[in-house]
Amino acid sequence: MIVGLDIGTTKITTVIGELAGDGSVDIIGQGSVPSEGLKRGSVVNLERTVQAIRESVHRAERVAGVKVESAYVSVAGNHTKAITSHGLAAIRRGHEITDTDVHRAIENAQAVPLDPNLEVLHTLPQEYEVDGQEGIKSPVGMHGVRLEVDVHIVAGTAGPLLNLRRCVQEAGLRVDGFVLQALASGLSTVDTGEQSQSVIVIDMGGGTTDIGVFRRGNLAHSASIPIGGDHVTADLAQILKIPMEEAEDVKRRYGAALPEMADADLTLEITTGQGKTHALSAQELSRVIKPRIAEIFGMIRDEIDQTLGPVELIAQHVILTGGASKLRGTPELARDRFRVPVRLGKPGNIGGLIDIVNGPEYAAGVGLVLFGLHEDGRLVAPAPTPLPEPEPEPQPSKPLLKSKKDREREPEPQPQPAPQRAERPQRTERPRPPEPQPAPQRAEVSAAPVQQTVVRTSPQAQEQHPPAPGHKPSLMEKLRSWFSDWL
Ligand SMILES: Nc1ncnc2c1ncn2[C@@H]1O[C@H](COP(=O)(O)OP(=O)(O)OP(=O)(O)O)[C@@H](O)[C@H]1O
Ligand SMILES: [Mg+2]
Repeated sequence: MIVGLDIGTTKITTVIGELAGDGSVDIIGQGSVPSEGLKRGSVVNLERTVQAIRESVHRAERVAGVKVESAYVSVAGNHTKAITSHGLAAIRRGHEITDTDVHRAIENAQAVPLDPNLEVLHTLPQEYEVDGQEGIKSPVGMHGVRLEVDVHIVAGTAGPLLNLRRCVQEAGLRVDGFVLQALASGLSTVDTGEQSQSVIVIDMGGGTTDIGVFRRGNLAHSASIPIGGDHVTADLAQILKIPMEEAEDVKRRYGAALPEMADADLTLEITTGQGKTHALSAQELSRVIKPRIAEIFGMIRDEIDQTLGPVELIAQHVILTGGASKLRGTPELARDRFRVPVRLGKPGNIGGLIDIVNGPEYAAGVGLVLFGLHEDGRLVAPAPTPLPEPEPEPQPSKPLLKSKKDREREPEPQPQPAPQRAERPQRTERPRPPEPQPAPQRAEVSAAPVQQTVVRTSPQAQEQHPPAPGHKPSLMEKLRSWFSDWL
């Protein structure tokens, strides 16, 4: 059994995998709960984090029917430092290169002075060079006098690692190892065809965006940006003057990273307690969202340009993953900014209950399990398992977001056709991301003081999805309709 524990800013996920007969991994359990004890990837509340880890592990254990004792734990890139170091080993004339020679070259690369405050997490050898011949994957058995290797060393800052370890231990688990989040996400999303290429994996989380550059199957560069999808939510909450939870819902249901990808016929009405109603088209909404996502991509571009060179020259593909990559139009905006092919990355390279981890937000959790297979951080996964397409985002046919007061006033829920599925994790108040940069375009929308907020689609939009004449709602439809506000 291999267990991954992805401790994120938005959610904590436990993924349980089991070794299959062919050496691959079957997913047998998953448990995910909202995370309230982290800020930008750092533990800020030990007690809440411990509680959430326990709950997430229990949920996964219940699905798998096993008891978890240890786990591989994710570390956000903003707590790590990475360097690439060069190692050399001399080979005696007439002798074949052996494993010992390879280890000697790697050890020599590792002999770099590191800040005592850093703990080495990964030592990732890149390709080898024998007597100047580059691009050698495995030099053992070759002849030459000079063996060289570049090693990517990822080290974590002691403080944040200690906090993470303490939380995991207090939740009753041992730490099998800490794994860089970008590495974990790459292990589950880079497919076999891409393993011979250079790809950039961008894990867009709630509080951080983690970047991993993989060259021919090896993590060659990593970085992290302290901005994620929660900043988009905070922008909307501030500009529309609505609570974070409602802003999150508006973002997921109607938001888009590009105005041209937003529903052109959809208008949101934001009604204040004084009866004033402000109309906001879905396209205007996405004009608020776009600058934030563009800012994230701009920062990634700058980081890669400065360290490796222009994105379009160093990468053949960009893979977007993490929960925030689910926002409509995000891959299209990324394609525009990076000028290379972009695709969404969902966890693959696995078998078993693939449907319970079928979303980009599970990429890191599944990747932790895949890391546990060999513990060498190399992309040596089998062909990815095709995953079913997600259901389309629900298109509401009735007012969607209501204040508590509205719910209390409602006498009885009326059965009517409801959205098929609404993604809305249970969450209470979360730490608000810092420095939300309000986009100026729609500042006037929230000019009036808001006591009570109702966000509803326009009548025109409602008419687009009328119930079929004579349609009798099924029990499931009734239940979905009654509880759609909580789903
Ligand atoms: N359907 C959706 N549309 C838009 N955004 C979404 C959607 N679903 C989730 N998100 C966003 O994804 C983010 C959470 O992603 P994820 O679960 O990968 O984060 P995390 O791993 O907990 O955080 P981090 O990696 O930053 O520590 C949130 O900002 C959330 O609003
Ligand atoms: Mg994450």
